[in-house]
Amino acid sequence: MGAKHGVPGEGPLDADVMLVGQNPGAEEDETGRPFVGRAGKYLTGVLAEYGIKREDLYITNIVKHASPKNRKPYSDEIAACLPYLETQISLINPKIIVLLGAAAKQTPHVTGIEYFEVIHPSAAMRFPKFKEKFRLQIAELSKQIAQIEF
Ligand code: URA
Repeated sequence: MGAKHGVPGEGPLDADVMLVGQNPGAEEDETGRPFVGRAGKYLTGVLAEYGIKREDLYITNIVKHASPKNRKPYSDEIAACLPYLETQISLINPKIIVLLGAAAKQTPHVTGIEYFEVIHPSAAMRFPKFKEKFRLQIAELSKQIAQIEF
C-alpha cells in the first residue's frame, strides 16, 4: 500500500545473468527502476570494478513494489509476486541467477540455471564485516560469468 510505481525490472531480454533483490526502496519507487538508490549505486560500482556491466544484466526483485517504511516484504507479498518472477525467468532464460540477500532465496529454482547467492548490497555497504565478503562474492561471480562467455 502506498507505493507510487511498480518496479518490474529492467535489462536485456536475452541477458545471461539475472539479479534478484528484495524489493524496491524509495528511489526505485520514484523512478520505477530497480537498484537506483544508494544500495543500487554501490552494487553497480562494485560490479563495474570486477568488469560486470550493469546494462548487460537483467535486474529485478522478488517483490515488485516498495513497502511501507521500507520494511521487509511479508511472505504473502512474496507469494503474490512469485508467478511474475517465474514468468520473467522463463522468458529471459538466464544462465546464472544472482540472489541478493535472504528474501531473494525464495526465487523459484529452475533446472539448468545456476544460482549464486550474495550478501545484499545494502548490508555490504553498511557493515564492514560484510563488505569484504561481498567483494569476494562478486569477484567469484565475474569468474563464473567469464566461463559462460567463452
Ligand atoms: N534493494 C532491493 O532489494 N531492490 C532494489 O531495487 C533496491 C534496493
